[in-house]
Amino acid sequence: MQTVNTIAELRAVLASWRRAGDRIAFVPTMGNLHEGHISLVDAARQRTERVVVSIFVNPTQFGVGEDFETYPRTEAEDREKLLAAGADLLFLPAVREMYDPAAKTVVSVAGLSDLHCGAFRPGHFNGVATVVAKLFNIVQPDKALFGLKDYQQFVIIRTMVRDLNMQVELVPVETVREVNGLAMSSRNGYLSSAEKENAAKLYRALCEARDAVLSGDADYGDIERQAQVFLSAAGFKVDYFSICRSTDLVAAMPEDRGVVILVAARLGKTRLIDNICFSK
Ligand code: PAF
Repeated sequence: MQTVNTIAELRAVLASWRRAGDRIAFVPTMGNLHEGHISLVDAARQRTERVVVSIFVNPTQFGVGEDFETYPRTEAEDREKLLAAGADLLFLPAVREMYDPAAKTVVSVAGLSDLHCGAFRPGHFNGVATVVAKLFNIVQPDKALFGLKDYQQFVIIRTMVRDLNMQVELVPVETVREVNGLAMSSRNGYLSSAEKENAAKLYRALCEARDAVLSGDADYGDIERQAQVFLSAAGFKVDYFSICRSTDLVAAMPEDRGVVILVAARLGKTRLIDNICFSK
């Protein structure tokens, strides 16, 4: 596996692969790789001849007072994991390689970016959409793989790809969970072991809410309130727990078939997100 730090080097390698007729799958990450990321690399390897992974802790998607400075940077371990997973190329750019200091352009997916996490992290999804658009322009992949743990992020990127006619096939990949149900996340590393056990209640709350919806309970507001009460009693500070339409993330109506339940909650100083998506 080759590692490159510049866009020019990356493009040279990609051009040689394309000349050989190889198709390229791309897995964008912020590093501190766990099994969830490796499942993206595995899914990528099944689909194309070449797999490119980027590790870039993107400053524009962190708000003031968030964890940009302390976000775990574990490049040596990440490189080993990617090598073992069979990635072909690691793109590891510096901030100055990705962002011209005079940059003026922001990609913003209106509406969707203000809901749910967007309401609590203003500007976050503009940072995500902008960096993913830039990475797509740099890599020009045939396919790009994203984990469904970040469900809202996936819907926003899917919308951006549609609206801007980007020629990339998006591949959503199921969330990988710990044995206790906790969704894998780089931010789980901030949790103490007691918090990690407790954090599994987030998925339990999602499963219980899904079961209530599937059993025919049509009072979604009440299901949401019960989940919030359960999570608050377990020590979470809940940002939102919302039963939504899976297509556009607005509040679901009992007649909607595709449903996603989205949750974000803080446990101590760690903000966790998770979701469960199902059809009725
Ligand atoms: O999901 C992430 O790790 C990031 O938001 C992404 C897609 C790599 C953009 O920085």
